[in-house]
Amino acid sequence: MLVLGIESSCDETAAALVEDGRTVLSSVIASQLELHQKYGGVVPEIAARRHAELIGYVVREALDKAGKSITDIDAVAVTARQGLVGCLMVGVAAAKTIAYARQLPLIGVHHVEGHVFANLLAHPGITFPHVCLTVSGGHNMLLYVSRRCHYEVMGTTLDDAAGEAFDKVAKFLGMGFPGGPVIDRLARQGNPRAFQLPRPMLKDGSYDFSFSGLKTAVVNMFRERINRGESLPLADIAASFQEAVVDVLVGKTVRAAEETGVRVIGVTGGVSANSRLREAFLEAAERKGLKVFFPPLSLCTDNAAMIAAAGYARMEAGERGDLSLYVLSSALLGRRYESEGGKRCPAAPG
Ligand code: KG4
Ligand code: ZN
Repeated sequence: MLVLGIESSCDETAAALVEDGRTVLSSVIASQLELHQKYGGVVPEIAARRHAELIGYVVREALDKAGKSITDIDAVAVTARQGLVGCLMVGVAAAKTIAYARQLPLIGVHHVEGHVFANLLAHPGITFPHVCLTVSGGHNMLLYVSRRCHYEVMGTTLDDAAGEAFDKVAKFLGMGFPGGPVIDRLARQGNPRAFQLPRPMLKDGSYDFSFSGLKTAVVNMFRERINRGESLPLADIAASFQEAVVDVLVGKTVRAAEETGVRVIGVTGGVSANSRLREAFLEAAERKGLKVFFPPLSLCTDNAAMIAAAGYARMEAGERGDLSLYVLSSALLGRRYESEGGKRCPAAPG
């Protein structure tokens, strides 16, 4: 079955053709990075307008690159939940148009579920149940994945997602946007113990995240020096900040695996491209006898191949969808995971 995936939840206009949820025939991503760079972040209205300009060309290119025509498609999967509403609407409108014209099934996919499938697409051997950390600019979730398309939310961000904190710290230090890749590169030359920064909520027993205070700690530590026009030890700041984020992400995820008794961890989303995060996860996994999987770099950040793969899995589970599909800026991916006294127990209905 050939699925056309469409993704437009933030600042990437993407389309992909994926065969049987496994083989990526094409994956086209039109990045809007330069449009937003001068604002130091994504401007929703500009992003939505750009998606509207590009979506037709991007779908056309995905078909051409795969050597397919629109009549070869068996289903359309589109990101419909979690993202910038105006941006989501462009992708969903395009998907509905194609589905209506060709009378095809139309599957709405949660963006974060797409990220989970980026890993499943790259590593079809990942076993269930497993714990999956999705960590991006717009979201940060710790999921208990009992089987394909079945999630319990162990934790989520209470304020900024980790990627957002990378972006805001980089903006404050004048390093440009997006901040993650810049900090990742610079941190390699820095000392991660140069500055003592907090590890928010690491030891509080919950699986939720909060990175806004960490960003503020960096700002408070260096604002005066910036105001005085002094130069800053940027590599040391980058390394210290990155190490704090990595400690929290790895610490909570490994504890989640231990509590649920799973031996497999997935890490996905834009921040999963981070080289120190990968290294720290691999070290922890080795120590604890766990297996950890990351998508290849091409599938870490937003793309439509992961949406097509998730859509295919949802169809296999019996979902068909229809033209009543609507968009939601934020939506739960599953019910909240519940534990009692450190032991896994059934989640409450929700
Ligand atoms: O998944 P994604 O493309 O979009 C969202 O769903 O948000 O993730 C983008 C985020 C940005 O915040 C970016 O700074 C971060 O991923 N990112 C990184 C790295 N590459 C991208 N963060 C840390 N290290 C990286 N190498
Ligand atoms: Zn994303």
